[in-house]
Amino acid sequence: PIPLVIDTDPGIDDALAVLLAVASPEVDLRLVTTVHGNVDLAQTTDNALRVLHLAGRSDVPVAAGARDSLVYPQPRRAGHVHGETGLGGVRLPPSPTALDPRPAVVALADVLTAASEPVTVAAIGPWTNIALLLAAFPEAAERIGRLVLMGGSAGRGGNVTAAAEFNVWADPEAAQRVLGSAVPTVLVGLDVTLPTVLDADGIARFAAAGPVGATAAAVLQQYLDHSRSSYGTTGVVLHDALALTEAIVPGTLGTVRRDVVVDTTLGAGRGQTLVDRRAPSRAPTAVDVAETVDGAAAADFLVDRVASLARA
Ligand code: BDR
Ligand code: CA
Repeated sequence: PIPLVIDTDPGIDDALAVLLAVASPEVDLRLVTTVHGNVDLAQTTDNALRVLHLAGRSDVPVAAGARDSLVYPQPRRAGHVHGETGLGGVRLPPSPTALDPRPAVVALADVLTAASEPVTVAAIGPWTNIALLLAAFPEAAERIGRLVLMGGSAGRGGNVTAAAEFNVWADPEAAQRVLGSAVPTVLVGLDVTLPTVLDADGIARFAAAGPVGATAAAVLQQYLDHSRSSYGTTGVVLHDALALTEAIVPGTLGTVRRDVVVDTTLGAGRGQTLVDRRAPSRAPTAVDVAETVDGAAAADFLVDRVASLARA
């Protein structure tokens, strides 16, 4: 299996993404690092521990990372989307496992350095920890085999402002640092996540699939209401779980290598990803931008995997 680290801010779709990784034999989840984002760091960290415990994987270490963005404080959290606790108002049982004492970037550097093969890193919150890793431990960062990022948008505008997607908007300077690096990167943005929707039938399949699935269904209920009202979709948008699908099964998404820069000005475009779609790029810093998806297949994949976990 591919060694995997998830950097996350759970977060409802983050929780689903972690469950998907745990349910997938193609990957070996070695570490979860947490970051500020949807809710504050203490809450995202506690949620990560609880989600792993729910999945029967309290053995996976959880290390806490950045409390805030690199340059400017994150303007606001997303409690209105994910519920004040970050998990749609559902209270998961506490984990018996203690937080790893290492700062996230140190734990991440340790895992990257110790691995005998390239590690996939999936970053599904603001990318602050990844920017810090690049700055503090560049040799370790070179051992990342694939960096799969959820965030940005090439042609769908934003979801938190007219221009910006949440994870990039939350820390645009970090995003620029990460997208400007030479780490092999896949960018999974709104172009492919918005068409990847889990409908009420899919949620019902979770609900019927044992205790883990039933809990996932309960967590998703609040998100369903949000997706319907803010995106006008008929189901739940699976942003982070789709990024994990690409991390687990490379090539799930159709990608094109492109130059991308982040708007780090303080104007109305702040946090926008400017994707140069005039022609593919061969620059070493170019990123594989996900442009096509079979959204229905991706939603089915998630349901099947998480349901199998529930039965285990
Ligand atoms: C991203 O923002 C967060 O609210 C979600 O968890 C996802 O990572 C989508 O824009
Ligand atoms: Ca997230």
